[in-house]
Amino acid sequence: MEHVPVLLEATMEMLQPAPGRTVIDATFGRGGHSRAFLERGARVVALDVDPEAEPEARRLAAEAGAERFRFYRMNFSELGQVVEKEGPADAILLDLGISSPQVDRAERGFSFQQTGPLDMRMDPESCVTAEKLVNELSEPELRNLLREGGEDRDPGKIARAIVRARPLHTTADLASAVSRVTHAPRPGAKHPATRTFMALRRAVNREGESLSEALAAVPRVLKPGGRMGVLTYHSIEDRAVKNWIREHAEEEKRQPGMAFGHANPERWVRSLGEAVPTEEEIAANPRARSARLRGAERLPGGGA
Ligand SMILES: C[S@@+](CC[C@H](N)C(=O)[O-])C[C@H]1O[C@@H](n2cnc3c(N)ncnc32)[C@H](O)[C@@H]1O
Repeated sequence: MEHVPVLLEATMEMLQPAPGRTVIDATFGRGGHSRAFLERGARVVALDVDPEAEPEARRLAAEAGAERFRFYRMNFSELGQVVEKEGPADAILLDLGISSPQVDRAERGFSFQQTGPLDMRMDPESCVTAEKLVNELSEPELRNLLREGGEDRDPGKIARAIVRARPLHTTADLASAVSRVTHAPRPGAKHPATRTFMALRRAVNREGESLSEALAAVPRVLKPGGRMGVLTYHSIEDRAVKNWIREHAEEEKRQPGMAFGHANPERWVRSLGEAVPTEEEIAANPRARSARLRGAERLPGGGA
């Protein structure tokens, strides 16, 4: 099936790819957004930690040429290094989380729908797997991980169930340990282990930390007037992005005649608002259901 990038038109409108502009696609995935940036004439610098992104990246490089498309297998927490090589960008996109091909392959261990090893690493060279966390963390550590990373409703009960079910080796082991103390999966309803899987995935891949590190690098990444767009799929991620924009955005002018400036050095971006998918977009691409795009523009001269 053709890969459908989430909130494609809203992302293009926000980031305005065009000839002469450089866009960093910090989460290349299967290249859906990168391809659209290239089609609109922009130069693209793409990153992904997953080696399975590389074949599509090679294909795009062959089609677009090395001057217009560059790929780095790298964590976006290291954006600063990419900017040292490639220079600052006119726009950056972070499309957070995992891609459909990652979820769909049982052996990556992201899915409770299929049995696979408890892996969940986006970067297979990193050393912490979900199996290691569920079997080696103490019960209080697991409880905190579940509370913070997935907002499980009763993290204590689930942590206890996991500890009792040790050793766990497969996604099915984990899914059944959780459903034993919650409820059995019901057709059409959210699987009871959804939040547990998400919390573990976020911990395995240090997703919260990587996002904070990437956001901290934005002043070096974007040219003045450059734009950032972040696509999130969960309230924890969305809150982190919303709060970051709130903390750094210049307040809109309130009185007529008052100049719009950025006298406060902490306030060096302008919010570009948010977008959510339409019903038609969700029908065509169910993965878009929980997506939210937020954006910010670096003010000219702000954020040194
Ligand atoms: C939602 S998918 C992106 C889909 C992409 N926009 C497309 O249209 O194909 C997220 C991708 O980001 C990658 N990723 C997640 N966290 C990352 C990080 N910290 N650094 C680099 N890549 C990351 C994942 O491996 C995955 O391929």
